Amino acid sequence: VKALFITGAGTGVGKTFVAAALAHQLSARGKKVVALKPVATGFRAGDPDSDPAIFLRAAGLAPGEKNLARISPWRYAEPLSPDQAARHAGKTIAPKALVEYCRAAIRENQMTLIEGIGGAFTPLAENFLVADWIKALRAPFLLVTGSYLGTLTHTLATLEALGRRKLAPKAIVVSQPLEAPVPLRETLASLTAEAGGVPVFPLPHLAGNDGFAKAPDLTHLLK
Ligand SMILES: Nc1ncnc2c1ncn2[C@@H]1O[C@H](COP(=O)(O)OP(=O)(O)O)[C@@H](O)[C@H]1O
Ligand SMILES: [Mg+2]
Repeated sequence: VKALFITGAGTGVGKTFVAAALAHQLSARGKKVVALKPVATGFRAGDPDSDPAIFLRAAGLAPGEKNLARISPWRYAEPLSPDQAARHAGKTIAPKALVEYCRAAIRENQMTLIEGIGGAFTPLAENFLVADWIKALRAPFLLVTGSYLGTLTHTLATLEALGRRKLAPKAIVVSQPLEAPVPLRETLASLTAEAGGVPVFPLPHLAGNDGFAKAPDLTHLLK
């Protein structure tokens, strides 16, 4: 596998956390990995918690304009969906340019991780949702979801809707952004029973600034 797209059943579910964990683990195995966040909204320069800043820090790179532009060319200030955030900036995201940027990165790097934005059906432009982006890249992808009350319907509905586009994730990763009251193991069991054979993996809550570095092995998801 030369590339992996990371999408989610929603926002704030752990996509960046999973991508950072994977980048960390692949690097530790001697792979040259780049983690991209091509489209970022709610972006403020200097914010150490933005997804691009997290990816740059994990790669040991400074969050300067040049590095930011390389991993996150489409950055918008408004904390909205990308189509709306772009509109507020007087811009539109050109699907062709976005897909071509990703393809070039996949060609040039040993391993490219691409974090989407929002969930799998978040609009980027007219008639262009994250699912269309994944389809255009023909890259394998992970579906990340959270462990919270409501995750079963969000995750299974996403899986079903992806199926309508003939898209199936390599695996579902259930991350625990918070010490949730919903037991991770039961979420896992319910999803596994309904996911039609797609493997489901747990990622327990790992506290701390670099909690992702303590994640159990995820690299087997790439096989
Ligand atoms: N397994 C986990 N353990 C600890 N913190 C997590 C875990 N998964 C996600 N988080 C935290 O939850 C928040 C949302 O996760 P994030 O990866 O940014 O979601 P997304 O990229 O899907 O919006 C972040 O602060 C992240 O560090
Ligand atoms: Mg993110």
